[in-house]
Amino acid sequence: MSFEIIALKSDGISTEIMEPALEVLRAVMAGEVEIHEEYSVGGISIDNCGDPLTDETLDACQRSDGVLLVAVGGPKWDHLDLSKSPEAALLGLRKRMGKDGLYANLRPVKPLPALYDASPIRRELIEGTDVLIVRESAGGAYFGRKTKTSDKGSDLWEYTTSEVERVARVAFGAAKTKVASADKANVLASGQQWREAVGALHQREFPHIELTNVLADNAAMQLIDESRKFEVILTENTFGDILSDVGAKITGSIGMLPSITLGAEDDPFLAEPVHGSAPDIAGQGSANPLATFLSIALMCRHGFKREAQASAIEAAVERAINSGLRTPDLGGNNSTKHAAKTVMRELVKLV
Ligand code: IPM
Ligand code: MG
Repeated sequence: MSFEIIALKSDGISTEIMEPALEVLRAVMAGEVEIHEEYSVGGISIDNCGDPLTDETLDACQRSDGVLLVAVGGPKWDHLDLSKSPEAALLGLRKRMGKDGLYANLRPVKPLPALYDASPIRRELIEGTDVLIVRESAGGAYFGRKTKTSDKGSDLWEYTTSEVERVARVAFGAAKTKVASADKANVLASGQQWREAVGALHQREFPHIELTNVLADNAAMQLIDESRKFEVILTENTFGDILSDVGAKITGSIGMLPSITLGAEDDPFLAEPVHGSAPDIAGQGSANPLATFLSIALMCRHGFKREAQASAIEAAVERAINSGLRTPDLGGNNSTKHAAKTVMRELVKLV
C-alpha cells in the first residue's frame, strides 16, 4: 500500500525547504509514498487563482493520507481581509480537513544537547527538557465569529465540552505519567469550560495520569525556568500558539520546532514546521530546513506508524547538528543546501 501525500506549494522560504524535505521523505519511505506537488496554498494561490485555498486543493488534501506544508504569508498580502489572507488557507486546512477538523496539533519541544547553548535560556534550565505541547487547533478565538468595524474588532472565543474532550483525549493518551492543562479559568468562561471538561474526562477515562491545572500565563513562565518538569502540556488554540513559540526558544530556534495536526481516526494529517514563511530571508538559501525534516519524522510516527523511519530522521538531524551544522538562525552560516546534504548523508547510513 502506498500513502498519498500532498506537498503544498506555499510562500517565502517554502520552496527552498520543500525540495530537500521531499528528498528526506523519499529516502525513508522509498516506494511507499506517492507525492503530489501540483497544489498550492496561501499567497501563491491568491496570486494564481485569487483564493488562498481553492476547493480543488482542499478536496485533494481531504482525499489524501496527509499534507505537508511549510508556511504561508508575507507582506505582499498583509492588506487583505482576514478571510482572504494566506493565513486563512492554513486555518481552512486545520478546520476543514478530516471528518470534523484537525483538532490536535502536536508540538514536541525537545532541545538537542548540542544546541543547549544556542538557546537564550541558560543551559541548566533547559537540560533534559522533553515536553509535548498539545495545542487545540480547530476552535477558540481563531474560529469564533469575527466582526470588525472602524472602531471595534471582536472575536468570539468559545469551547464546547466535546471540543475540549477530543483534544484532551489525545493529550492524556500521549502521556506516560502527567499532563499539565493550561487555561485562563480565572478570567475566561471558555477557560472555565476547558478546565471542567478536562477534569471530568480525566476522572472518567484517565485517572492513572496525574493532571495539574495551570494558568496559561504562569505556564509561559514555568516553561522558561522549569520546562523539565512538564511532560505533556494540553492547551487551547491561542495559548498553544504562544506557548509553542516560548518552546521554540528552548530548542534554540523556531527553525527547529516541528508539528503535526491530527483529527479523528483515519483523517488525513497536516504536517508543518512551527515557523513562518520568513519573507525577509526568502530566496537567500539560508533558511533552516530542520523543523520541516522533523515534521516528516512526526508524519512517519503518527501518520504512517513507522517509528523506525521517524527515529532515523531524528537521529540524522541530531548527528548533523552534532557534527557542527548551524544555519544562521542557530548562529552559524551554513546554507539550506548544506543542511540538507549533511542530514541526507547521515540518513542514508540509517535507513
Ligand atoms: C502557527 C502559526 C499560525 C497560527 C499562523 C501562521 C496563522 O503562528 O502555526 O503557530 O497562529 O496558528
Ligand atoms: Mg505560531
